[in-house]
Amino acid sequence: MAQNWTPESWKQDRFIAKHLPKYEDAAALAEAERALAGFPPLVFAGEARALKADLAQVAAGQAFLVQGGDCAESFAEFHPDNIRDTFRVILQMAAVLTFASKMPVVKVGRMAGQFAKPRSSDTETQGDVTLPSYFGDNVNGIEFSPESRVNDPQRMLRAYSQAAATLNLLRAFAGGGYANLREVHRWTLEFMDRSPWSSEFKQIADRIGEALDFIEACGVDIEDQQSLKTATFYTSHEALLLPYEQALTRQDSLTGDWYDTSAHMLWIGDRTRFVDSAHVEFLRGVNNPIGVKCGPSLEPDALLQMLDILNPAREPGRITLISRFGAGKVEEGLPPLVRAVEREGHPVVWSCDPMHGNVIKSDSGYKTRPFDRILSEVRGFFAVHRAEGTHAGGIHVEMTGQDVTECTGGAVAITDEGLADRYHTHCDPRLNAAQSLELAFLLAEMLNLELGEARQDAA
Ligand code: PEP
Ligand code: CO
Repeated sequence: MAQNWTPESWKQDRFIAKHLPKYEDAAALAEAERALAGFPPLVFAGEARALKADLAQVAAGQAFLVQGGDCAESFAEFHPDNIRDTFRVILQMAAVLTFASKMPVVKVGRMAGQFAKPRSSDTETQGDVTLPSYFGDNVNGIEFSPESRVNDPQRMLRAYSQAAATLNLLRAFAGGGYANLREVHRWTLEFMDRSPWSSEFKQIADRIGEALDFIEACGVDIEDQQSLKTATFYTSHEALLLPYEQALTRQDSLTGDWYDTSAHMLWIGDRTRFVDSAHVEFLRGVNNPIGVKCGPSLEPDALLQMLDILNPAREPGRITLISRFGAGKVEEGLPPLVRAVEREGHPVVWSCDPMHGNVIKSDSGYKTRPFDRILSEVRGFFAVHRAEGTHAGGIHVEMTGQDVTECTGGAVAITDEGLADRYHTHCDPRLNAAQSLELAFLLAEMLNLELGEARQDAA
C-alpha cells in the first residue's frame, strides 16, 4: 500500500492543485461530498484488477488497447442511442483490430464519468462580457450566462447518476448478447454498404466474414461461446475533479487496498501530470490502472520521477502512457521518452492519442482536427515504436457513434464549410462513426505491415 497516503492527502499545501473549480459555498460542497461518499461504488475492485491484468498483456506486447469516447460527456447528450452507438463503434473498431493484429483487443470507453475538463483559460469573453469558463457538466453549465457558469457541487450528484445509468446499459449490452461477434461484423458490413469509401477495405471485411463462416462451419455456435457472444468492456475518464474522485474512493474489502470506484481506469491529463501535482498524489494511492498523458513539454526525467511515484513496484498494467504530441512532433518527441522508460525497465503500455496535439482553428472559426493529421500522428507513433523495438500498444481517441461533423477530412470528406452542419461536441472535436471505423481499417493495415515485418524478422 502507498506510504503516507490517504484519500485526501492531495489537499496538503505541498501539492499543487491545478484546474480544480472553486466552490463559493463550502457547506454545499461538503454536503455533496457526503452524499457521494454514501453512494454505491460504480465499479468493483476486482474489475479494476482484471483490467490491470489485461493491460499487462498489452505491456508485454501480446494485446492491443482501444480507448475511446466523448471529449466531454454532457447532461444534454445523455441518451441511450448515444451510449449504444459509441459502444457499437468501439466494438467494431476492436473487431477489425483483433483480426488485423491477431491479438486480443482491450476495450475501454471514455464513458460513464468523462465530464470534467481542464481549460487553458479560467475565463471566457464574448463581446464585452467575461464569465468563468465552462469546466464540464459536473462543474458548471456550457450556456454563456452568469447563472449557468456558477460552480455547483450538486452537479457531481447528477454526473454520478448519469455515470451509473450509462454503466448499467454498457454492462447490459456487453454481457447480454448484444455484443455477439457476428452482430458486430454485420453492423460493419451494413455500415460499409452505405459508405462510398468502403471498397478499399472490403477485402479485410470479407476475410473477417470468412473467418466467422469457417468457425461456424467447424461446428462452433457463436451463441454458445461466451468469448464470442459477450464483450469485456471497461470505463475510464480523466481523474480531474478530485472532490468527486475522493468521495468515490473506497477500501476493497477483499484486499484492503484503495480503489477509485468511479471507473475502472483513470488518467492524469497533460496539464496536471507534473511531479508535485495534487492529481499525481491522489492517483498514487489508488490501485486502479492509471493513464498518464505525455505531451511535448514532458521531460524524460520528469516522466521517470512520476513513474517511480505512481508505480514504485513496477507492476505491469498499472501504467499506460498516452502520447499526444501532434503530427509534426511525435517522431522527434516520443523516442527520448521511450528510451528513458526502456532504460529504467518500467513496464508500460504505450498508447497514442492522435487527437489532442492536432487541434486547429478552421477558416470557418470552428475548432477542428484534420483527419490527415490524426492519421499522420498514428503513423509516426508506429514508426517510432518500430524503430525502438517497443510495442505500439494502443490508441486513445475522441469519437462518437453519431454522424457529427467536427473533424475535417476522412474518406467522406468533411470540409471546413461542412463543420457547421452537425457540430455538437461540448469540448473538443470528435471523430464520427465513419471516421472512427476508417481509422480502425487504416490501423489494421499498419498492424498487418508490422506483423508481416515481424514474421520476416523471425524467418
Ligand atoms: C482529454 O483527453 O480530453 C484532454 C484534455 O487531453 P490532454 O490532457 O492530453 O490535453
Ligand atoms: Co479533449
